[in-house]
Amino acid sequence: MNQNEIRNFCIIAHIDHGKSTLADRMLELTGTVDKRNMKKQLLDSMELEQEKGITIKLAPARMAWDNQTLNLIDTPGHVDFNYEVSRSLAAVEGAILLVDATQGVQAQTIGNLYLALAQDLKIIPVLNKIDLPAADVETRTQELISLIGCDASEVLTVSAKTGEGVEALLDAVVDRIPAPSGDSDAPARAMVFDSFYDEFKGVVGYVRVVDGSFKAGDTLRMIATKVESEILDVGHLDPGFVTDADLATGQIGYIVSGQKEIEGIRVGDTMSTSGTKAEPLAGYEEVKPMVFAGIFPKEGSEYNRMRDAMAKLKLSDAALTFEPEQSSALGFGLRCGFLGMLHLEIIKERLAREFNLELVVTVPSVAYQVTKTNNEVLTIKSPAELPEVTFIDHIDEPWVKADVVTPSAYVGAVMELCQNKHAIYQNTEYLEGDRVILHYEMPLASVIVDFYDKLKSVTAGYASLNYEIMDYRVADVVRMDILVAEEPVEALSSLVYRDEAHEVGKSIVKTLKEEIPKKMFVIKLQAAVGGTIVAGERISAMRKDVTAKLYGGDVTRKRKLLEKQKKGKAKMMAMGKGKVDIPTDAYLKVLKR
Ligand code: GTP
Repeated sequence: MNQNEIRNFCIIAHIDHGKSTLADRMLELTGTVDKRNMKKQLLDSMELEQEKGITIKLAPARMAWDNQTLNLIDTPGHVDFNYEVSRSLAAVEGAILLVDATQGVQAQTIGNLYLALAQDLKIIPVLNKIDLPAADVETRTQELISLIGCDASEVLTVSAKTGEGVEALLDAVVDRIPAPSGDSDAPARAMVFDSFYDEFKGVVGYVRVVDGSFKAGDTLRMIATKVESEILDVGHLDPGFVTDADLATGQIGYIVSGQKEIEGIRVGDTMSTSGTKAEPLAGYEEVKPMVFAGIFPKEGSEYNRMRDAMAKLKLSDAALTFEPEQSSALGFGLRCGFLGMLHLEIIKERLAREFNLELVVTVPSVAYQVTKTNNEVLTIKSPAELPEVTFIDHIDEPWVKADVVTPSAYVGAVMELCQNKHAIYQNTEYLEGDRVILHYEMPLASVIVDFYDKLKSVTAGYASLNYEIMDYRVADVVRMDILVAEEPVEALSSLVYRDEAHEVGKSIVKTLKEEIPKKMFVIKLQAAVGGTIVAGERISAMRKDVTAKLYGGDVTRKRKLLEKQKKGKAKMMAMGKGKVDIPTDAYLKVLKR
């Protein structure tokens, strides 16, 4: 196949603007998939994706149109997976910028556009959903013109639902997007933009061949991880797997590596063949978890099953990390690292659905970097890992660049919200109509807790948010301990901003007050930072003399009661506190805050 007859492209869009629907129409119109066999939204293959209606994993598909080969990559539509978006953009020459004509440009449209422009991609601006009466083609066209500086005639209009305008769009892909460059005689090089684990095949990489070619039998070499193995199969997706004799320069397809671990074939790494002197392609970045949370089985006996399930999920998810964690309150569990909140939620749901596990997930926290006085730098995944205050020089936390797109009527409310979240205002850009983009810098910790929900609620659902990790900055965070009856409760310690310690502490002790049953004595509940109490409550003593019940009556009942009491005591001891039994529900209420 001639390299000049290949077009590689992807579709970038805000969530729900119709990316998957458009991909379906393209597959259908190009005859790649028979209309009768058209399963709705073929590219979103995972069950969860279908259900949540979001793309998580990318699947490439090859189509024929106008004597050309079109390779389409679907990209994930969520900020957690920005790294994967940027890798898929690096695999193509052009991007369809798809905008819902009833909603206009949203935060993620812009975020993705910037990523695409950074890769020098040819952009084809497209308005979707023109079949809907609320579609405002004129205003939205102006919006696109001011955003990308294109000409009105370049903006295409389609209905991904009815198929209207989609043939013209396929023509535009052929006409406007350049054919891939690359040297077919050079040593083989390919960029991995996705990889997954298949029980039968091993690790399969989705790749863009940049130079040379790959075929079954070659010895694969990964440049960053240095892993070598024999290539078992190469080919493309239509969208089922189709074996090819080789995967040539400029093509997009799959390579079956024979590897058993996803770590070996990571997104962003360069594939080559053994014995060649190929240089790595630019841009490999190891993705690091940014959000940590403890995951515990509701039933302690399920721990082993949960750990095995996580290990299985990790096979196809190189960004997921976990290690054993033990909590006096929740028993054995795992401390897990995620890219962001959606990633966390997906894993939680998959554990529940695919493995039937009932789980408890503790309050997520960001990955803090602690620089010790001896200059050693630690990444802190849980408060328990924080060194003694005297050994800490300073603590850094991840910051993000956040863009909020909102109707201008809500600017005041958004600004107030951001201010309460330690955000630093940068500037405002004006969109067509009466909408604006507010640019902020803020701590990731502010974003992960409830920022998105609050943003939606103060803007009646109209605002959209996009963010990307920017850097680490010094954070004034402290470890807050919770004391029950003057005993610190390890499981309830947390890292909080110094200026919020009082408020957070107050809410925790209040929750505990509601959840812990009264005793014969007064129970002090305290939140402490260093040696200082920042919030306190007390549970008053029980008035009635319950032991009175123990006198008289029959002996077996008495023994039973004593036995019960003994058991309860043992449980309390096991929890590390001699005096006060903290019910599991109280832990849950606090840990899930
Ligand atoms: P993510 O995968 O989460 O990024 O979403 P997406 O961009 O792939 O959106 P999807 O294709 O799932 O479409 C979102 C919703 O819009 C679905 O309910 C579609 O049926 C609907 N939709 C997509 N295109 C059109 C269109 O042209 N007209 C109308 N009326 N509805 C559309």
